[in-house]
Amino acid sequence: MKILAIESSCDETAFALVEDGSRVIVNLVKSQVLKHQVWGGVIPEMASRYHLEAIGEILEEFKTLASEKLGHDFSFKNDVDAIAVTQGPGLIGSLLVGVNAAKSLAYIHDKKIITVNHLHGHIAANYLYEDSEEKPDIEVPFLCLLVSGGHTQILKVDSNTEYSLIGTTVDDAAGEAFDKVARLLDLPYPGGPHLDKLAQTATKQLPADFQFQVPQTPDLDFSFSGLKTAALRMKQKSAANWQNYRAEIAENFQNCIAKYLVQKMRAAVEQTGYKTLTIAGGVAANSAIRSSLLEEFSANGEKLFFPKLKYCTDNAAMIAAAAYHLESSDDLSFEVFSRV
Ligand code: KG4
Ligand code: ZN
Repeated sequence: MKILAIESSCDETAFALVEDGSRVIVNLVKSQVLKHQVWGGVIPEMASRYHLEAIGEILEEFKTLASEKLGHDFSFKNDVDAIAVTQGPGLIGSLLVGVNAAKSLAYIHDKKIITVNHLHGHIAANYLYEDSEEKPDIEVPFLCLLVSGGHTQILKVDSNTEYSLIGTTVDDAAGEAFDKVARLLDLPYPGGPHLDKLAQTATKQLPADFQFQVPQTPDLDFSFSGLKTAALRMKQKSAANWQNYRAEIAENFQNCIAKYLVQKMRAAVEQTGYKTLTIAGGVAANSAIRSSLLEEFSANGEKLFFPKLKYCTDNAAMIAAAAYHLESSDDLSFEVFSRV
């Protein structure tokens, strides 16, 4: 079964064609990030306008790529069994562009439509592979640590349609903390990947009063706003030291977040007895987080999976992967939603 999926919930316009919920035929992602960079964050009204301007051209590019990959001229009639689209959560104006494109295509080509929760898409990114890659050997049930720009959650995934939330952030998301601290380090938006790179150039010993403390939060809940405030205080206290130790601060900050996430996932494993773990969302691309989790969860029958880097941040292939397990429908009257 081949699903064409569209994702437009934030600042990426993406189309994908995925077979049987895991084999990626086309994964086309167009980012607006350079356009938002001058403002230091995504401006929602501009994001929806960019989606609208770009979506027709991206669809054409998708068809060309699909024809190349399939070895024949792509046709909706023969190459698409259903159309999937991100319904929410996300920016309303941005979501509307993708959803209206999906509805129009479903109507014109007489296809069924599948609406997908963006967060479930991030989780399903763990199933994706291309022909040149190994198929991930992952099965439900598992625990998922979902760390993105808008969410930080621990979920029990008991089937491909059953998710129970067992931990969440009480304030900022992990990605927001990365972006805000990156901004204090004068890095461009979105800060996470830039901070990750800067951290890898650290060489010096960081003074103790520039070191971050792992937040103390009960149960499986998270809080990231204290780290952001700590960073601001450090910078205010000594701007010279802050400049001198930028790479070391970045390294210490991401190691602190990695340690925090490892602690909470260890507690989640103890609480649930689950031994298979996954990580998903843009922050799952972070090198320190990946290596710390891998180190912690690769013995005693415990196994950690993560999506390939290109499927961690927003894309449409993950939406097709989640859609594969859901019911399709002829109903084109559904709305978008901004929050869960
Ligand atoms: O999942 P995503 O692409 O979009 C949302 O659904 O939010 O996540 C975007 C977030 C941003 O905060 C970005 O800075 C962060 O993921 N991110 C990273 C890295 N790559 C992306 N954070 C830390 N390290 C990275 N390598
Ligand atoms: Zn996302």
